[in-house]
Amino acid sequence: MPDADTWALEDHEIPTLQEGEVLIKTHYVSLDPAMRGWMNDAKSYIPPVAIDDVMRAGTIGEVTQSNNHPTFKEGDILTGWGGVQQYIATDGKGHFKVDTSMIPMTRYLGALGMPGMTAYFGILEVGKIKEGDVVLMSGAAGAVGSVAGQIAKIKGCKVIGIAGGPEKCKHVVETLGFDACIDYKNENIYKGIKEHCPDGIDVYFDNVGGEILDAALARLRMHARVVICGAISQYNSASIEGPKNYLSLLVNRATMQGMVVMDYAKKYQEAGMQMGMWLMEGKLKTEEDIYEGIENFYDTFQRLFSGDKRGKLLLKIIE
Ligand SMILES: NC(=O)c1ccc[n+]([C@@H]2O[C@H](COP(=O)([O-])OP(=O)(O)OC[C@H]3O[C@@H](n4cnc5c(N)ncnc54)[C@H](OP(=O)(O)O)[C@@H]3O)[C@@H](O)[C@H]2O)c1
Repeated sequence: MPDADTWALEDHEIPTLQEGEVLIKTHYVSLDPAMRGWMNDAKSYIPPVAIDDVMRAGTIGEVTQSNNHPTFKEGDILTGWGGVQQYIATDGKGHFKVDTSMIPMTRYLGALGMPGMTAYFGILEVGKIKEGDVVLMSGAAGAVGSVAGQIAKIKGCKVIGIAGGPEKCKHVVETLGFDACIDYKNENIYKGIKEHCPDGIDVYFDNVGGEILDAALARLRMHARVVICGAISQYNSASIEGPKNYLSLLVNRATMQGMVVMDYAKKYQEAGMQMGMWLMEGKLKTEEDIYEGIENFYDTFQRLFSGDKRGKLLLKIIE
């Protein structure tokens, strides 16, 4: 687990814009488990955050100045990889204009942002769910798992969640509409999966790795699909525990496939329209846990790993 002094909070002058640049005032920063992985000096799907760089983060904010930017103007709301900072001077690459007239801006960092896209493509394209499938979802109360599980319900699957604590499990069933939820902090996970998936699992959507992945592998059905989305239980470990029950893939002719959301970037718009519809129709419910102030970044970051948060974790930067 990184220490508080891993990050320094620095004051700088707001930069003077170059021709074609915009200045974005950051309203919200997204806190994501992936931040931990971006800090490892190792080969990954994107380069690590370098020492002394601004901490990488998804952001949403308002354009307050434009120096002849070809498309963005003052007042536009942009989402992108702005980093943990109050103001962003940018040529706009990697930032997208969003419409906040009907949908609150925080949704664009949650269900309509990176976690929502991960859920959508992970469950539909990698999980290849079909009506009647039994879907097991770890991290069920989190930003990705809560949306992926609800999509599986919309598509007619039986969905069993896994979350930490009775309150989160209650939320997963009563508010999100999952069929059941296993409390991995207070129940035996092997027993819980056996009880709720007596005939096995067609799709396991893995957000956490470790022992829960092992327990899920032990109950796969024939031709099951295991979606490797993340392994939050392992991110702060010096060495990652590999799956012990992987021979279940052989026995059940099952597949286990990793995914990276960025590979689906060309289809984000299509997914965003569908998810926006589900949100407006009330078929998709979201929860956001919002803390305040850039100086509270570290305390908020810790909540990703302690479980002391509900739904999508955000930090409000400037009103
Ligand atoms: N592959 C991709 O492209 C992609 C994109 C986005 C996210 N991800 C990954 O997807 C996963 C979920 O991300 P998210 O945005 O939904 O994060 P999140 O909102 O922080 O949710 C993660 C959930 O994991 C649970 N958790 C934390 N520590 C745990 C542990 N030791 N054992 C079991 N559960 C634990 C927490 O719930 P409890 O309180 O219930 O424990 C939390 O709700 C992460 O692994 C993330 O890295 C992957």
